[in-house]
Amino acid sequence: MSESLPPFRAPTGTHDVLGPDSALWEGVVATFAQSAYRYGFTLVMTPLFEDVGVFTRGIGEESDVFQKEMYIFKDRGERRYALRPEGTASVVRAFVQHQPTTPWKAWYVTPAFRYERPQAGRYRQHYQLGVEVLGTDDPTVDVEVIALANSFYRAIGLKNLRLLVNSMGNEECRPRYIELLSEYLEDHQMELCDEHREMWRQNPLRVLDCKKAACIKVTSSAPMLIDHLCDSCRDHFDKVVAGLGAVGIESFLSPRLVRGFDYYTRTTFEFIAESMGNAQNAVGGGGRYDKLSEQLGGKATSGIGFGSGVERLLLARTAEGVATPLLKRTLDVFVIDTTGDESVIALIEQLRAAGIATDRAYDQRSMKAQMKVADKSGARLALLVGPEELFAGEVTIRDLRSQDFEQAQQRVARSEIVSTVAHLVTK
Ligand code: HAM
Repeated sequence: MSESLPPFRAPTGTHDVLGPDSALWEGVVATFAQSAYRYGFTLVMTPLFEDVGVFTRGIGEESDVFQKEMYIFKDRGERRYALRPEGTASVVRAFVQHQPTTPWKAWYVTPAFRYERPQAGRYRQHYQLGVEVLGTDDPTVDVEVIALANSFYRAIGLKNLRLLVNSMGNEECRPRYIELLSEYLEDHQMELCDEHREMWRQNPLRVLDCKKAACIKVTSSAPMLIDHLCDSCRDHFDKVVAGLGAVGIESFLSPRLVRGFDYYTRTTFEFIAESMGNAQNAVGGGGRYDKLSEQLGGKATSGIGFGSGVERLLLARTAEGVATPLLKRTLDVFVIDTTGDESVIALIEQLRAAGIATDRAYDQRSMKAQMKVADKSGARLALLVGPEELFAGEVTIRDLRSQDFEQAQQRVARSEIVSTVAHLVTK
């Protein structure tokens, strides 16, 4: 006898999403698309893999994402590609390539790949919803991008969020600040965590982002960039904060918020789900990247955007106890047919054409077996077609949610069925 082969499983740190959970995913994506549309964005789609240089130049070779988390491979033509770890660099690459009219406002939904240590809310493949705006450094657009994120989070039912903001400065004030920070870190290098004691010189800003207690302690007294911005960055930041206030969004200054990619300039922000405790509680984050277009070979073009992890948004919904569905994805009707007559196929197509979500049992099983499937299907109504109904040109409608058997059933003429069902399911 042949032994059965061991079944495959999804790779570590990835997950399959099946119904009914997938209805929540659909709902989140549909709500995001609607929010983006309201703010004047159109959908952009780019390949899942790019020349590895898009990310070396975009997110920075010194970033943790690049150093430790990228999926890099050579194809059969010896070209070096990477699976995208995030959406921004690819979208800006597409902007440089196609030169759409500016301001260009694009939204996306994409899987993103990072070789992380998997844990709740941190995966090797996660899904990101995001937007990017290219072609303006007007602080109004920073406010709008944050307002879009905020209104989307509210639309999916999240209430308990905290918006952190900071500025990463520009090419004028940031190098000066990095010198200042480096002097400070030089004096305290022996107190840093093991990794940063060795590596801090390569990218001193990363030390501010380190979650280890030793680095947090050292940097708590370090100079902060927000106190050393040049006048134009200070003015830009003040306008963003004032604009957020004007649209009723509370923001909290977080001077250590440097974020994980090297492309950021000026505004950076993160939305924290306070219901989720401290680990993996960032449901979204973003900021400006006024140099990224040039770094990818394009004209000098300012940009800003944000990305949000779908998994984390759903975890935050659970943590906040939000139970409202975002989309109706339940069946209206389940058809039970014991006759096998072609007219039943036609009836089902008629119901579907009228917008009524309809499913059926297959294989002509017994009435009892089909009834069991109908009960499990979650449908509101069962339509029964047996030999008697077929002969009389009628259908029995049964309300699957009613306990009262007599009241739950009615016989309706075939010609009346679509209108009767449409009326019952909207009741
Ligand atoms: P990010 O902060 O790295 O930014 O990711 C955005 C969001 O994706 C995070 O706030 C989190 O919700 C989710 N996320 C990130 N990594 C994981 C993971 N391993 N597992 C689950 N969820 C994750 C970016 O990616 C930037 N591209 C955002 C941006 C757009 N900046 C400007 N424009």
